[in-house]
Amino acid sequence: MKRLLITIDGPAGAGKTTVSREVARHLEYTYVDTGALYRAVAMAVLSEGCRADDDGKVAQILRGLALRFEKSIRGPRLCMNEVDVSDQIRTQEITMFASALSARRVVRDYLLGVQREMGKNGGVVFEGRDMGTVVFPRADIKFFLDADPDVRALRRYRELVTMGADTSLAEVAESMKKRDDDDSSRALAPLRPAHDAIRVDSGPLAIEEVVEVMLRHIAH
Ligand code: DC
Repeated sequence: MKRLLITIDGPAGAGKTTVSREVARHLEYTYVDTGALYRAVAMAVLSEGCRADDDGKVAQILRGLALRFEKSIRGPRLCMNEVDVSDQIRTQEITMFASALSARRVVRDYLLGVQREMGKNGGVVFEGRDMGTVVFPRADIKFFLDADPDVRALRRYRELVTMGADTSLAEVAESMKKRDDDDSSRALAPLRPAHDAIRVDSGPLAIEEVVEVMLRHIAH
């Protein structure tokens, strides 16, 4: 059977990560978290003390980067220059810096090549913001997963508390809104559904139900 290229885009907190992992697991496909790539770039740029808008210096940093995912029993791990950075890239500082950097052409162009290389043989579920619109406009199946902002903020808040973060629901809701606004209003590859994406509202559904809906679409 043909190994498909599947894209799942949407805003933060819509449940993309869990759903994408599950869909990939059911199909025995590779799962690629493209947000992690933006985060790793942010970590590299921050560690050099470089500003997000210093395109020349960012380009120089990108030339020295090698990003690849490695399979593990805990799921795919992201290695940057052969160091596993999967956990370190989850801080709030990196979250906001990744969003700022993702508006820069130099970063998007670099990651466009990295992502297309990862998808060239199919059999991949790509999770991101512009997978179906820009990176893989000819993907076999595209989903856009969304939910009400209050639902998304509550989900993300619970996730962060479980990870031991000291934060409030209001704080999470505010930073999520800022990030959504920035990601949706940037000139380059803004967050929006592809015209041919299947839209799924994860608000009223349990994660397993979202996965089921998607698998049904994929089987048809
Ligand atoms: O999905 P995430 O929260 O890990 O993504 C981090 C940031 O990366 C997000 O604010 C926007 C950016 N991003 C992007 O611009 N395009 C993608 N395909 C994935 C992420």
